[in-house]
This record gives sequence, structure tokens and C-alpha cells, in this order.
Amino acid sequence: MLLEKMISILALSAVLMDGSMDAAMPDKNIDGKVFLVNRQHALNQRYVPSDLRDVLVHGISQDLRDEAAAALEALFQEAEAAGVPLSSVSGYRSYSKQATIYQRKVDSIGTKEADRISARPGTSEHQLGLAMDVARKGSSQLNKGFINTEEGQWVAQNAHRFGFIVRYLEGYEDVTGYDYEPWHIRYVGVEHATAIYHSGVPMETYMSGYRLEVYDYLIHQVTNEVLP
Ligand code: DAL
Ligand code: ZN
Repeated sequence: MLLEKMISILALSAVLMDGSMDAAMPDKNIDGKVFLVNRQHALNQRYVPSDLRDVLVHGISQDLRDEAAAALEALFQEAEAAGVPLSSVSGYRSYSKQATIYQRKVDSIGTKEADRISARPGTSEHQLGLAMDVARKGSSQLNKGFINTEEGQWVAQNAHRFGFIVRYLEGYEDVTGYDYEPWHIRYVGVEHATAIYHSGVPMETYMSGYRLEVYDYLIHQVTNEVLP
């Protein structure tokens, strides 16, 4: 896709011009909606969002930050109405909870494989309180087969309307650091989620372009001129 190629080139230019990976982290506000967390950009062990609350949806009781919780509630309501009901599985996770989950993975499948699917403590978006793992209603299974279900398809095509992106895209493990996760959605707000969804690139690439302010142009172009 031409747009995707264009964004990748711009992203690369941004990194080169900046001379450091810091180019991939334009939002320095840890409490902002587009704060980037990945293998290279870790959170402090003590970081706990101040506005966590229980998300009132079907599934395992989980917390998110208030704005993301309200957005997820709206998403779940619409999914239910569309005949593709969902369950929440895992939302906010503290640094120590992530440490336990990661270590369990290492113990069962070894460090190399664990690193492809589980974030080391301090590097999980779940610590931001802006990420939720979702499954079909009544299920807590998180696997790639989700994308072959009506629910998974609906999430992939509609999450952006509520401000969420499918964060770990297929074919971008070298950029995101993680294997494809069609069940893990990250809140970034409707404007950014819509731009990221239409661009088809991972958040890392998007943020590099955002720093260069090319996304104002792209959002406008995508919204008004290119896409139906
Ligand atoms: N599974 C994702 C990468 C996490 O552990 O945050
Ligand atoms: Zn997740």
C-alpha cells in the first residue's frame, strides 16, 4: 500500500534526522494517551496511573484508566448489539504482576519464546492502564484464532471508532517486538486510533511520523480525500 510505504519512509527519516531512537517517542507525557511503551521505552517500576477504575463489562473484572474504561464500555455495548459479544480478560497490570506473568512464561517455554509474547516487567502497555485483552463472550482464551472469528474480525475493523488499536500487528514483529496479538487493544483516543488503523502501520511507525507533524496532513488526507 502506497500510504503505508510513505509512512515507513517518513518514519525512517525521522529516526535518522533525530539521530536516536528517541524519535519514536514524541509524547513525553506518561499520563498522555499516546505514550509509547515497548522494549526500548520502559516504565518506572513505581508507575501506577492515578485514575484507574473497574471496567463495567462482561468478563473478568479488570481495571483501566477512566477514559479508556468508558471507551471500552461503549465498544462492548456496540459489539453486543452487533451480535459479536466480547469478554474482558486482562486490563491494568502492576509492574509486579507483569513480573510474575513474564517469569511464568519463561519457566514454561524459555526466555527466547517468552520474549516474543510476554513483556518484561516495566515494558508492558498493561502497566499504563490503557490496554485490554479481549476474547469472545464466555471465553478467556487469547490466541491468534480470534481473528478468524466474527468477534475478532469486528474488533479488528471497529476498535478504532472507540479509540483503540490492535497494537501488535501481523508481520510487524521486528517493529513492535511481539508476535501478532489480535486480542490486545490499546487506547490512544479516536483521532490517533483512526489514523493508525487507516495507515496500517504499528504505533512505533506512526509516532515517528507524528513527531514530524506529517500526521496532521495524513489525518486530513485520510479523513477527507483518500478513504470513503
Ligand atoms: N503480551 C504483551 C506484549 C504484554 O505482555 O504486554
Ligand atoms: Zn495484552
